[in-house]
Parts: sequence; C-alpha cells; structure tokens
Amino acid sequence: MFAPYRAAITGLGAYLPEKVVTNFDLEKIVETSDEWIRTRTGISERRVATTEQASSDLALPAAQEALKSAGLMPQDLDLIIVATASPDMLFPTTACFLQAKLGASCGAFDLAAACSGFPYAVAVAEGFVKAGLYKNVLVVGAEAITKFINWKDRSTCVLFGDGAGAAIISRSKDGHGILASYLGADGTQSDILQIPAGGSVNPPSEETVKNGLHYLRMAGPELFKIAVRTMEQAVHEVLRRENLQVSDIACLIPHQANNRILQAVADRLEIAPEKVYINVDRYGNMSSASTAVALYEAVKSGAIKKGDYVVLVAFGGGLTWAANLIKW
Ligand code: UT7
Repeated sequence: MFAPYRAAITGLGAYLPEKVVTNFDLEKIVETSDEWIRTRTGISERRVATTEQASSDLALPAAQEALKSAGLMPQDLDLIIVATASPDMLFPTTACFLQAKLGASCGAFDLAAACSGFPYAVAVAEGFVKAGLYKNVLVVGAEAITKFINWKDRSTCVLFGDGAGAAIISRSKDGHGILASYLGADGTQSDILQIPAGGSVNPPSEETVKNGLHYLRMAGPELFKIAVRTMEQAVHEVLRRENLQVSDIACLIPHQANNRILQAVADRLEIAPEKVYINVDRYGNMSSASTAVALYEAVKSGAIKKGDYVVLVAFGGGLTWAANLIKW
C-alpha cells in the first residue's frame, strides 16, 4: 500500500509516582515473601500513585517531557491518544482530562487494549500520520492500575504498579521510523484477565462491591503460556513484514509482566538476553505504561541508538497482543 509519509517517534517522556512499595512492605499486608515474589516474577519493588493522583495526572508530566524532547508545544498537537486500563472515569476519557491539563486543543480519545495499549496506540498514531491526516500525535500509556487491585489478594497485588510513558509520533523526515505494526486479539478468552464490574455487564451495586468485582482478576498460569506464545508470534509477524530476522533486532522492548515470561520469550526467539530491555524488577507490571516507560529508559540509557531496529511487543487482557517494528 502506498503511504505518502512515514511516522517516527520524535520525543519521549515518562513519569513514575514517588511512592515505592517494596516486597518487604507487602510481606506486612499479605501472606507472601520477598523471596517468592522475586523468584516467581522478578519484581523487587513497584511505584504506587497517591489517592489524589489519577491516570491523567501521571500522564501529564510524561506528556510534557515528550513534547519538550520533540521541540513541540501543546498547541502543535493534532491528536492525543491515551492507552489505559485504569481511566480517570468511564467517561470523559482520560485523554480529554489530559488535553485540558496540557492546554492542548486537538482531538483526544482513549484506547482500551489493556497491557497491549501502548503498541496498539502507536499503530493507530502511525496510521494517522502515514495517511497524511495528522502531523503530530501524542501517544501515552498511563496507569493508576493499583487502584483496581485487591490488596488482600496475594496472587495479584504483588504484580502491579503505576506509571506513565509518552511518545510523540510525527512525520519522519529522514526515512527512519515505524516500519510495521501488528495487532492481535482473541475475545473468546476475555475471562482470563478482567475487571468484571463497573461497566454495563455489572454496573456498580452493593453486591458488586461486596463480592469484590471491581478488582482486577487474573488466571495467572493460563495467561503465562499465552503471553509467551503470542509475544513470540507478534515479533515474528512484524519482522516478516519487512523481511528482517530476529538477529536484526538491536533492542526488544517487551511488556513487563513477569521476568520468567521475558526469559521464555527470549529463549523461544533465540535473541541474546542483553538485547531484551527489562525493568520489571523496579516497577512491576504497569499495564499499558510498561512498554512506554521501558522504551523511554532504553533510549535514555543508550541501549537504543540511531539506525537500530527496535521491536515493541505486548500482550494483555482482551486478550490482546501487538508489536511495532521501528527503525530508530
Ligand atoms: O499484563 C498481563 C497480565 N499478567 C500476566 O501475564 C501474568 C502471567 N502470569 C504470571 O506471571 C504467573 O502465573 C504468576 C506470577 C501470576 C503466578 O506465578 P506461578 O508460578 O504461575 O504461580 P501459581 O499461580 O501457580 O501459584 C503457585 C503457588 C500457589 O500455592 P500452592 O497452590 O502451590 O500451594 C499459590 O497460592 O504460589 C502461591 N502464591 C503465592 N505465594 C506467595 C501465589 N501468589 C503468591 C504470593 N506469595 N504473592
């Protein structure tokens, strides 16, 4: 398909809430241990938003930093897409709250693809820019997901954390940029990871609150296997579209759910472990913010250099999975 423009990431930003919750802190509230959490997940600590901080509050400093690094003002934005599984409200969208806080005046909408939200949103922004409809799109993965966690449920509360990462996607001037994106979903497996109440299936009621249906629920071991398989498949799919090999990847930015998942994906892809960016130890699973923050850190740390092939890959509730292949 002929595309008049190529889309590239021209600015990045991230924000992590100040409050650090360690595994030792969690030992005091649920029957768990630092040893179990570290060996089964690779997580040592995570960040947790304050009661006053909603997802749009985490998104704001990340978006401001991304704008600054792209050399843009909020008024230069043509569109804002916020990927989130923990929106400020059912509506208005978190993107609208963020638009007001930024002082931007463009269109704004949320994208719901759970943990795959950021690569999904990058693909959507890529489409708008490639088609020539918009010049500058702000994409944010922002999550105050711990607000939907049952702190009495050790099988989920040790896994998640809050944060936000942002990217500016603009017209590429030098041929670098997003080469291919791949989106996948399987709605028949929606019960594996969900927040059952709060929507129109189970509107809020005394009953839903009593039964804890507003909390995130997950069939962890089932999801583990699907995560490994879909992430491997998504990486192969974006590479195939550009006739590239796994050995061409300089840096793989995977969704950070569990270190064991990342090791299994790396093994199956036969990619060198040092090419896989990992920060799950410091932040846990930040849902749609995970890939966004990991990309930000990888670029900042010098793990990604101009001309490198970078692959973002994620999976999550829906089920959903997605990958983007980028020439940096
Ligand atoms: O972002 C996308 C969504 N998330 C994921 O992709 C997560 C995918 N799944 C996973 O990462 C892993 O399945 C978990 C980390 C969730 C669980 O690890 P696991 O090795 O699959 O453990 P398990 O659920 O099979 O549980 C093993 C044991 C159980 O005890 P018994 O039945 O063997 O006596 C659990 O009750 O570990 C127990 N357990 C814990 N023990 C201490 C579960 N959670 C904890 C805990 N502390 N926090």
